[in-house]
Amino acid sequence: MIQKPPGIEDIFPDRTPKFNHIINTANEVFRLYNYREVILPVMEYTEVFARGIGDGTDIVTKEMFTFEDRGGRSLTLRPEGTASMVRAYVENGEYNRLALCKFFYYGPMFRAERPQKGRLRQFNQLGAELFGSDNPWYDFEVISIMNEISRRLGITGYNLLINSIGCPDCRKPYVGELFKYYSTHEHELCEDCKKRLHTNPLRLLDCKVEGCIALKQNAPKITQFLCSDCREHFSKTTDLLAKHSIAFTHDPLLVRGLDYYTKTTFEFVTTKLGGQNAFAAGGRYNNLVELFAGKPTPAVGFAAGIERIELLLEQLSVTERLDVYIVYSGDNALPVTMQIAEELRKHNISCDFDPAAKGFKTQFKKADRENARFSLIFGEDELANNCTTIKDMQTGDQVSVKQESIISFLLEKLT
Ligand code: HAM
Repeated sequence: MIQKPPGIEDIFPDRTPKFNHIINTANEVFRLYNYREVILPVMEYTEVFARGIGDGTDIVTKEMFTFEDRGGRSLTLRPEGTASMVRAYVENGEYNRLALCKFFYYGPMFRAERPQKGRLRQFNQLGAELFGSDNPWYDFEVISIMNEISRRLGITGYNLLINSIGCPDCRKPYVGELFKYYSTHEHELCEDCKKRLHTNPLRLLDCKVEGCIALKQNAPKITQFLCSDCREHFSKTTDLLAKHSIAFTHDPLLVRGLDYYTKTTFEFVTTKLGGQNAFAAGGRYNNLVELFAGKPTPAVGFAAGIERIELLLEQLSVTERLDVYIVYSGDNALPVTMQIAEELRKHNISCDFDPAAKGFKTQFKKADRENARFSLIFGEDELANNCTTIKDMQTGDQVSVKQESIISFLLEKLT
C-alpha cells in the first residue's frame, strides 16, 4: 500500500461538509465587505517567497518545499498567500493602478514543519488582502472580518492579540536595543537565535524554544520607540476596535514570523489547540508592493487556518443530506426508477438508488446511511396504480402520491 507523506491529509466526506461550511461562511462575510475572489497559483519562483517573507525567516530557511523545474529554475510550493498575492497584484498592473483593491482567496499552503495536531505540511488557508490605503480603518476592517467569520461559525473563547511593530524608521533604534539586550544573554540563546541575533534580531521574539521564550519576557518593548505616525496609527486602530466592542489584548512583543510587516500585527489565539495557539493572523505590510517593483502601495490583510478552525468546531455537526432515496422492487420497477431519478435531478432534487437493488430492507438501510430526507417507494402496487409511496424518513409518515405529482409534492416539502 502506498501511503501519503506525513503531515498531508485526505479529507473525506466526514469532514468536507464542515470544511465547506467554513469556506462558505468566510465567502459570505468577504462579499459583505466587498472583497473579490482571486485564485492564485500553488507554486511560484522561489524568489517570490525569499524576497516577500524574508531570507532569514524560519519559513524560508527551513520550511519550504523547493525544487528545480526541468530548466533548472527554482520553484516553491507556496507556504502562504500574501507574497503570491503581491506578486500577482504587481504583475497584473491594471490592479496596481486602481485606488483601492480588496481581494480574498483560499487554498492549500505547504510548509515542511514537524507535523502534530493542528500543524500540517499541507494545510488550507482563507485570507483577505487590501491594497491602496494606510487608513487604520482598514486594519480594523480586516480584523472585523475575521471576528465576524468567527462569530458566524460559533468560535468562542479566543483572544485577539495586537501590536504595532512600527515602520523601518522607528524599528531601527528598537532593533538596536534588542541586539543590546540579547547580546548580554547570548550564551543562553538557542543555536538558531545565536545566528538570528546577528542577521535579524527581531526574529528572536518569535522563537518557540523554551529558554528563548523565557528571555523574551524581559526584552525591550517596541511601544516606546514608535514614531508619532506609527503611534497614532496604532491608537486609531485600537480605538476603532474598542468603539465596535471587539475585545483585544495589546501584546507589545507580538512580531509574527514573517518579515514583511509594518505597523499593525495581530493574531487570533486560543488555548483549545494544544501547541498551536493561533487560528488566524495578519497585519499591515506597507512596503511589500514596492519590494516587488510595484508602485508604493500600503496594504493590510490576514489569513486563517481552515483545519485549525475545523478543530475548534469539533462539536459542530454539519452533515450533508440527500433529498430522496428511491426504493423499488424487482426489475420491472427499474425503468420507472431511472426515469424518475432523472426528472428529480432536472428539478434540482438530489437523489440516488441502487441499480442492482435486492430487498426493501437493504435499500431502506442505504436510505438511512445516505441521510435521505424522503424515500420514494415503487413496489408492485405502486406500479400498477401509477403512483409512489413517499416516506418521510424523519417522522416515518407515508403518503401515496400520483406519479405526475411527485415533483410538485417534493418541491413543496423540501423548501
Ligand atoms: P501565518 O501566521 O503564517 O500568516 O499563517 C496564518 C494561519 O495559517 C495561522 O494562524 C494558522 O491558523 C494557519 N497555519 C499556519 N501554518 C500552519 C500549519 N503548518 N498547519 C496548519 N495551519 C497552519 C500568514 O500566512 C500570512 N500570510 C497572513 C497574512 C495575510 N498577513 C497579511 N496578510
